[in-house]
Amino acid sequence: MARTEGKVAQQANALLDWVDDRLPVKSFWDDHLAKYYAPKNFNFWYYMGSLALLVLVMQILTGIFLTMHYKPTAEEAFASVEYIMRDVDWGWLIRYMHSTGASFFFIVVYLHMFRALLYGSYRKPRELLWVFGMLIYLLLMAEAFMGYVLPWGQMSYWGAQVIINLFGAIPAIGEPLVEWIRGDYFISDATLNRFFALHVIALPVALLGLVVLHLTALHETGSNNPDGIEIKKLKDENGVPLDGIPFHPYYTVKDIFGCAMFLLVFAFVIFFWPEAGGLFLEHDNFVPADPLVTPEHIKPVWYFTPYYAILKAVPDKLMGVVLMGVSVMILFLLPWLDRSPVKSIRYKGAWFKILLALFTVAFIRLGMLGMAEGTVAQTWETRWWTFVYFAFFICLFFFSKNGKTKPVPERVTH
Ligand code: HEM
Repeated sequence: MARTEGKVAQQANALLDWVDDRLPVKSFWDDHLAKYYAPKNFNFWYYMGSLALLVLVMQILTGIFLTMHYKPTAEEAFASVEYIMRDVDWGWLIRYMHSTGASFFFIVVYLHMFRALLYGSYRKPRELLWVFGMLIYLLLMAEAFMGYVLPWGQMSYWGAQVIINLFGAIPAIGEPLVEWIRGDYFISDATLNRFFALHVIALPVALLGLVVLHLTALHETGSNNPDGIEIKKLKDENGVPLDGIPFHPYYTVKDIFGCAMFLLVFAFVIFFWPEAGGLFLEHDNFVPADPLVTPEHIKPVWYFTPYYAILKAVPDKLMGVVLMGVSVMILFLLPWLDRSPVKSIRYKGAWFKILLALFTVAFIRLGMLGMAEGTVAQTWETRWWTFVYFAFFICLFFFSKNGKTKPVPERVTH
């Protein structure tokens, strides 16, 4: 028995050597897992990257199965989604995994980005890593927007109408641009067709490419950590960072645990609360698209509403569009706006904690106001939180350089 096992192991090794001579499997495994040293003080926030990967894979897999039954025409789209929900075996599960998955993707990505704010992970030398992350975020928004149009419900139709018309505010080229995006004089079958093509192939491919760049940039600089200390600065005689541990097995096990916990929560929501009371799938989207009937209250899904609130807070359409655009784009500049001598919130003074707390409240409150009806009082409140949102970036630039800090230890705390 032992002899046969030994022989099997020998054959497996020989096969691996054969492959390795033709494809660098072993060096890839070592460089990115077994001998990739990550800081030993990762905490809860460091689950989010691997969870984002998990959700990305889940969205692609469930998307493939949805595409097998979905019909991308204005005539059939709505009915084909109902068919998936009622008649296709396990169709309801696949559809809910995908639609609820979109919301979970944004929850994970927002927490992932917040972690970067906490620990200054966007700071030198990780600026490009952050920029790739931001590009992923932009593409993810485009991907989610186009996906929401596909069921061809009332909110798909009218949401698309509002968002595409925003481009009409651009002077001179606005109108022709809107027509070019729609592919017609109004939102129609042609619009649905192109959104389908972009949603199922072009954007996912671009997203995957950006994720590869994101991770390549991450492995070049190495991860930051809750102390914001560069572990590569202190190495032993073999060149191994003193505060590093091999990613595999330590963090593969940690991440598998994180994925299992995430899937438990995800399954619970899918089985018992898949539409989250209209938050993940709006009630109006269970009514087929009707170009002649405008829903009473058009609003995007929750992950867009902070920016939508900023758009609505400005009376002038063009200025609203510009301010909304700037509110997203300003995030790209974070690595250069934050000039503090320390990275992590642990060693920044109270000034940063107050700024970040206000920014977080502003973002959440704007998200809530973006869903609201837009009474006069709400509009004024939105303007206040818009001011706070932008004040965060301005204050960060001016206060971070000389703001009070605490001494940063040599080694990571554990
Ligand atoms: C599909 C979406 C994304 C995936 C799959 C992804 C994946 C990952 C992974 C696996 C890590 C390493 C583990 C960790 O630090 O949690 C990471 C780190 C990082 N990501 Fe992402 N990411 C995504 C989106 C984003 C976005 C939208 C941003 C910011 C705009 C971003 C910024 C960062 C930063 C700054 C780090 C380094 C964090 C540190 O070392 O402290 N990522 N990402």
